[in-house]
Amino acid sequence: MTKEFEFLKAELERMKENHTWQDVKQVESMQGPSVTVNHKKVIQLSSNNYLGFTSHPRLIKAAQEAAQQFGAGTGSVRTIAGTFTMHQELEKKLAAFKKSEAALVFQSGFTTNQGVLSSILSKDDIVISDELNHASIIDGIRLTKADKKVYQHVDMSDLEKVLRKSMNYRMRLIVTDGVFSMDGNIAPLPDIVELAEKYDAFVMVDDAHASGVLGESGRGTVNHFGLDGRVHIQVGTLSKAIGVLGGYVAGSKVLIDYLRHKGRPFLFSTSHPPAVTAACMEAIDVLLEEPEHMERLWENTHYFKSRLIQMGFTLTQSQTPILPILIGNEGAAKQFSDQLLSQGVFCTKHCFPDCCKRKSQNTYDYDSRAHQRRTGSGA
Ligand SMILES: Cc1ncc(COP(=O)(O)O)c(C=O)c1O
Repeated sequence: MTKEFEFLKAELERMKENHTWQDVKQVESMQGPSVTVNHKKVIQLSSNNYLGFTSHPRLIKAAQEAAQQFGAGTGSVRTIAGTFTMHQELEKKLAAFKKSEAALVFQSGFTTNQGVLSSILSKDDIVISDELNHASIIDGIRLTKADKKVYQHVDMSDLEKVLRKSMNYRMRLIVTDGVFSMDGNIAPLPDIVELAEKYDAFVMVDDAHASGVLGESGRGTVNHFGLDGRVHIQVGTLSKAIGVLGGYVAGSKVLIDYLRHKGRPFLFSTSHPPAVTAACMEAIDVLLEEPEHMERLWENTHYFKSRLIQMGFTLTQSQTPILPILIGNEGAAKQFSDQLLSQGVFCTKHCFPDCCKRKSQNTYDYDSRAHQRRTGSGA
């Protein structure tokens, strides 16, 4: 090849120097409490497989039977020829699970946030987002022509300030993670809902890390706080506690009908294979029928957290099974992670991704502001 991407190569070199280059480890076994990495059995502390459902025999059996009966793939996007009966059955189950009128499944949690935000927001609206929201929310917001405001992490007076100044818009949409994926803290949803009701705003919660973890049978933060019926849009993922793949949005019938016609990932990307859909349906049944998985998750969380504190580690203010240990800088985090792996513990380092540090097209660079405040670094 005569032409090379020299500018990309230079960026990769810079990332290696800054220890933000990601040396992706390969898992050579089924996902579970322990996995094989580099031909060695190690303790798995890095996955989102909260309930161990990736290897639950009922899910595996459901996936096998569905593949046998309905094939390996669906051959079409949902709106052309790719909606099987089971896709709609799963959506009915998810709507009931989230105590909502209706639900719609997308290919992933990431595309759910992108699909929802990009289609419901217009130039007449404003979206108001917590500064530590997930990348998929940020990207979804970037796809819209709506005005954007970011409030300081879980800071209700900052949120109220923005709401007070936003009364002229057609819609004010507050968006928050239910459980923040990097810190493990729970959003102050009762306060957010109260403010939304006071200022006539809508609320969207991304419960990727709360579904299967918080609330009755893992219904998420909305149910956990007794707010069923008061949150307009609930997003969830099927890829974490549910143990398979996908994302969904639950809400009113009008919202779901609209997204079925306007949600671009739903319209333009092929539907989930039968094995995935059947395993997700089985997972919801298992959640409802086998409470022991959530009970064990919380027992393990309390035990692990108390032992980490006893050992002198610095933790975040996590209230959930996400237990980040703050190391301080990228180089030290990499070294710590490598040492853990050599001693039989698979604990991937997380650095603030370089891709989030760029200025967004909307001129506010809220990812790195939040990061600096959290770590006290200028990274
Ligand atoms: C808060 C949050 N939302 C959405 C997603 C994306 O979910 P998925 O992995 O299903 O695409 C993640 C994944 O890390 C997440 O943490």
